[in-house]
Amino acid sequence: MLKGKNVIDPMDLSLEELDEILNLADEIIAEPNKFTHACDGNVLAALFYEPSTRTRLSFEAAMCRLGGKVIGFSEPNASSVAKGESIADTIRTIACYADVAVMRHPKEGAPRVAAQYSDIPVINAGDGGHQHPTQTLTDLLTIRATMGRLDNLTIGCCGDLKFGRTVHSLIKTLSRYENNKFILISPEELEIPEYIRREVLEKRNIEFKQVRTMEEAMDELDILYMTRVQRERFFNEEDYIKLKDTYILDNEKMKLAKKDMIVLHPLPRVNEISYEVDNDQRAVYFKQAKYGMFVRMALILKLLGIY
Ligand code: NCD
Repeated sequence: MLKGKNVIDPMDLSLEELDEILNLADEIIAEPNKFTHACDGNVLAALFYEPSTRTRLSFEAAMCRLGGKVIGFSEPNASSVAKGESIADTIRTIACYADVAVMRHPKEGAPRVAAQYSDIPVINAGDGGHQHPTQTLTDLLTIRATMGRLDNLTIGCCGDLKFGRTVHSLIKTLSRYENNKFILISPEELEIPEYIRREVLEKRNIEFKQVRTMEEAMDELDILYMTRVQRERFFNEEDYIKLKDTYILDNEKMKLAKKDMIVLHPLPRVNEISYEVDNDQRAVYFKQAKYGMFVRMALILKLLGIY
């Protein structure tokens, strides 16, 4: 039963619940008109303490397309946050006005704190370099729609695996499906955090290897998940500059990949995928952005107990 749940970490959703959400998203894609009034009279609060394009606007578009309304801020300095209000007090107040809240915050764990003080479901839209569960829902829907399955896949995660919250949530989730393998492509400085390696991959006996170049991995992959080097999480600009262009996917590298491999990217991209790759039919990152709206529509409906 998803009604009233908080979605802070991907593990907050069981495999059955993930399936329910993805199935409902498929129904919405097939018959969007059936859902245009499903959330009439409901309000979603979008609390964005960090920049966002896709996550915030896809949540807002999702609620609008369901007939609901949206309140919130994308510039925390324009709210009482600037006066020093705590997350606990902010969410207690928002809970008086809205039926569901979506929060993005630079501090890891902030949405978890909010959920503890909230009477309405709280959805984590990205907390620092930690987790991003609804990007994972987006990724799952895209993978299922294009590959037809979520198991028996070899997934290459490339780029900033240290600070990239989308890969943390994706690895956590895809390792729950049978026979998935991971190839982790990163410089030494940007390897996945130890808690993911130990608590997720090693503990669950998941097959994985860590490599330094894309060329070593390309021909094995069913999915290539590219990520941006997370500039805002670096302590100094020099380290960022040194690492930012470590991996650039271009048509040359795409030649090494399987004919039916797909390229995902949560976006925004900076330099890590050349524009020429956009014309390759295996590049599905803009489709992925669209799936994000549909899966968020499904999530909202489930958390509000409407479907
Ligand atoms: C990602 C994020 O915010 O973590 N973006 C997104 O939500 N689609 C990835 C990123 O910012 O690099």
